[in-house]
This record gives sequence, structure tokens and C-alpha cells, in this order.
Amino acid sequence: MPKYYLTTPIYYVNDRPHVGHAYSTIVADALARWHRMKGEDVFFLTGTDENSQKNVEAAAASGEKDLTTYLDSMSAAWQMTWSSLALTNDDFIRTTEERHTKAVIKFWKAVEAAGDIYEGEYSGLYCTGCEAFLVVADLVDGKCAIHKTVPATIKEQNYFFRASKYRDAVLAHIESHPEFIQPITRRKEIVNYLTSAFADISISRRWKTSEYTGGVAVGIPVPNDPAQAIYVWFDALINYLTAVGYGTNQRRFETLWPADLHIVGKDILKFHAALWPAMLLSAGLELPARVFAHGFFTVNGQKMSKSLGNVTNPIDVVGKYGNDALRYFLMREIPFRDDGDFSLTKLEQRYTADLQHGIGNLARRIITLGAGLTSVDANLEAVERHPVVIELKRVTAEAWSEYTRAMDGCAPHEALETIWERAIRILDETMEREKPWQKDGDEHARVAVLWGLLESLRHVAWMLWPLLPQTAEAIFRSLGVWTKESERTLVEAQQWGSVPLSGSRLERGAPLFPPITGEALVNGKR
Ligand code: MSP
Repeated sequence: MPKYYLTTPIYYVNDRPHVGHAYSTIVADALARWHRMKGEDVFFLTGTDENSQKNVEAAAASGEKDLTTYLDSMSAAWQMTWSSLALTNDDFIRTTEERHTKAVIKFWKAVEAAGDIYEGEYSGLYCTGCEAFLVVADLVDGKCAIHKTVPATIKEQNYFFRASKYRDAVLAHIESHPEFIQPITRRKEIVNYLTSAFADISISRRWKTSEYTGGVAVGIPVPNDPAQAIYVWFDALINYLTAVGYGTNQRRFETLWPADLHIVGKDILKFHAALWPAMLLSAGLELPARVFAHGFFTVNGQKMSKSLGNVTNPIDVVGKYGNDALRYFLMREIPFRDDGDFSLTKLEQRYTADLQHGIGNLARRIITLGAGLTSVDANLEAVERHPVVIELKRVTAEAWSEYTRAMDGCAPHEALETIWERAIRILDETMEREKPWQKDGDEHARVAVLWGLLESLRHVAWMLWPLLPQTAEAIFRSLGVWTKESERTLVEAQQWGSVPLSGSRLERGAPLFPPITGEALVNGKR
């Protein structure tokens, strides 16, 4: 069974997750489910990035006296959010775990042994918001363009990573592996960065003697120099190795590394597509197969941020509209590669038009009509030769191939569009045109059309499974073909003939998407 290892970024715990963070993780979940459905041995990783100065500042601001208690409770909040959203990550890594310290130390030593770590004086600008060194060109009016704060001026003796030594090798890799950076439109940005600005970077900081932490700083100590802590990004990227056994379980590591896909927001592509490959080359490790940078959700065109008061908690959305409504909106509203606006008004519009009146009504009508097929005396072979069934088979086969291309290409928006445009719409049209409820005199035609619709609906449920799993499950149950995930295969999904000719196993169940009622969400600017 081929393996498939995919990751999300690990999130800072200076705040709770908002719908923007949920976006990366939900898409990763959909892709993980898709690869499981294809029969691959999937390992899906997410987690929290905890050795960061901004977490320390947030802990101090929260009034919590003990940093570890703060980190534990915030990391738990992230884990709890993902489980409320029924996400299927196989592991949740915290960079404060011992397994991670072991991996980081092993990695540091490998880079050191390659002659790529040297001591030098760092003097320059540092933005805690970005947890990154800035150059004057990054500033707008003397402030960080993203965080709108004046960066700190730092001058200290640090360890440096000889990143520049790998510039040409990383560029050559990008050139020879067109699939490495996706979408393709982002490649140029990274190539420009590598050729014009990529340089050796400081990878350690003197411990900060913060009053809050009583002199104890966050971070992993530099091996053989406990006066310094490892730079948070250098430590964070290594999480992708830690989780698959680097430094703790070599056999497992060899089975799962390299990663097949790193999903990241466009804001952190540079770290993943330039620094990370240089680090891996230095440590003598293989590079991930693919890094996909997705776009950002804004609110009325503005960045989502707690200080602007425009963040929406995904748990609130799921509480009101259900898990699949949030998944549907996030994945359908904007192409994965682009930016777009999050709004509950638009979510409600899509809910009503596409979910309630779209798949919800279609499934209910087909199941209700199908349930009328009680005393059927028809033969499957004859039914399969009916022109409507032949046409539906052709249409679903086409939808499957478009859908597969979209899912393999990290384009959930296209996959959803395919399901709606190439399947749901066509089933609606077929039903309206064929009017199976009027075929009283022609029992063969009535059975064939209804059976064709029921089978096609089963295909739709299969395609929905990775994207809207609860909806898919409800449809499978209504069709009487529910099986455990571990027993499903894509080959079986794409065949015809699982739904029995007799409608006796069909169950209408509750509406998939009932009409929206009640008050608007508090944060929903409607
Ligand atoms: N800790 C680093 C990542 C280290 S990975 C080795 C970090 N964390 S973060 O908490 O700031 O979250 C980063 C990711 O959250 C972004 O790259 C992006 O994937 C996701 N998003 C955060 N806000 C988002 C939106 N408004 N819209 C879409 N995605 C968003 O950077």
C-alpha cells in the first residue's frame, strides 16, 4: 500500500483558532480522506508551534502565571477545536514535547557536521509578530508591513546557518521538479527570493531573561551552548521530521519520509520552499515532494485578526450550521490558490442555494421516489441497457475523472464544482425530463430511471465523502449501502450495481440541510 504523508503548518498558540486556521486544516483533512479512499496509507499531521516569543508575550498578557500551564491549555484548545470539527489527523505534534527536542538536536548536529553552522554577530531588525528577521526593504514607514509594529533592533553573538551554500541546489531542484512549488504561479516569487535575497541566517538567540518567565526562556537549547536557544522557525520546520520518527524511530522515519505534501498559507511559503529545502539538503535528507501555498480569507477585505475584532470561531459556525456547511463554504467559496472574503451572509446564501435546495432536495426526492420501488420484478441486466442508465453511467464516469484530477491537484473548489455541475445538476435535469413518477404504464422505464438516479446518487455520495463526510454518510445510510470507512474502496465506488433494484432498504432519514433558523452569529457581520 503506498504511503501518503501530508502536513498542515503548526499553529502558534498565542491565540485560539479562527476560521482562517480552520481552512488549512480542513482542506488537509479533505485531502487526507481522499488519499485514504484511494487505498493509500495516510499519515496526516497537524500541531502547535510553542517555542515562540509571541506565545510568551500572549501568556503574560493573559494573566496566566505559569508558561507551561498556558501552553498546555492553549494547545488543548487547538486539539479540541480540530476534534469538534471531526478532523482526522493521525497525530498532533507539540514542539515542547521531548520527541521534538530529540529530533531538533539530532538535526542540529547533522547540519553542524556538514560544516554549515558558524558563529557570527547578528545585528539587525527582528519582528516578533513574524518571528523573523527583517531588512529595511520589508518595512513600511519604519514598521513591519504585516504587523504594523516597529521591529526590535538586535545585536548579538549568534549561530548562523550557511543557507547560501544551498541556494543553487534549491534552485536546481525547483527547476527540475515543477511540481515542488504549487500553485505554479508562486514559483517565480520563490525563485526571485532565492536569487536576490536568500542569505545565511541566524538560527539562535540569546536566552531572553524575561521577567514573566522568571529568567527561563522558551526554546530548545543549542547543543553544547545552553546560553542560546534555537531560532523558532529552525525548530518548527523540523516538526515534520519529528512526527515520523526522526531521532526516535529510524525505521518508521525511513518508511514515511519524505513528506508528500506540505500545505501552507502563502505567508509562510518562503520558509517552506527555500529555507526548509536548504536545511534538509544540509542534513542529507530528501526534500518533500510538494509544497502547496494557499490563499487567505479576509473579512471585508481586511486581514483576520483578534485586534480588529473580526475573527470568527469555527466552533460557533459549526454549532449553528453544521460541520459540512463550514467545510463546503470554505472549500467552495474561493479557489484554494486564491484569496477571498469570509462572510456569514455568503455562507448562508451558499447553504440555502447549494446545500438545502441543491444536494439536500435532490437526495430527498430520489430516495422518496426510489422507496416506491417495492414490488419490483425487473432484471438488472435489462435495466442497465436502458438509455437513461447508459447516459447516467457516461456522465458519472466523466464526473469521476474530473473530480479525481481536481482532488489530486489540491483543488477542492474544482472538485465541488464538478460534483455540483457535472452530477447534481444533471441528476436534477434527468429527473425533471424523465418524470419517473409519471411512468405508470411503463414499469421497466420507471425502474430503470429511478435505479439510475439512485446509483448516481451513490456515486455523488462517494465523491462527497472526503469533502462533506457527514452528508456522504447520511446519503449512504439512506441508500442502505453504509459500510465502515476501512471497508470502502475507490474501485467499488466507481462500479455500478450496489444499490438493490428493490427500494425496500431505502430510508428517508432527516433532511440533510434543514432551513436556517435563529439569530445570526455574534461575530457574523451581516
Ligand atoms: N507557526 C507558524 C508556522 C510554522 S510551520 C512549520 C505560523 N503559525 S500561524 O499560527 O501564524 O498560522 C499559520 C497558518 O495559518 C498560515 O500559514 C495559514 O495556513 C493559516 N492561516 C492563518 N490565517 C489565515 C487566513 N486568514 N486565511 C487562510 N489561512 C490562514 O505561521
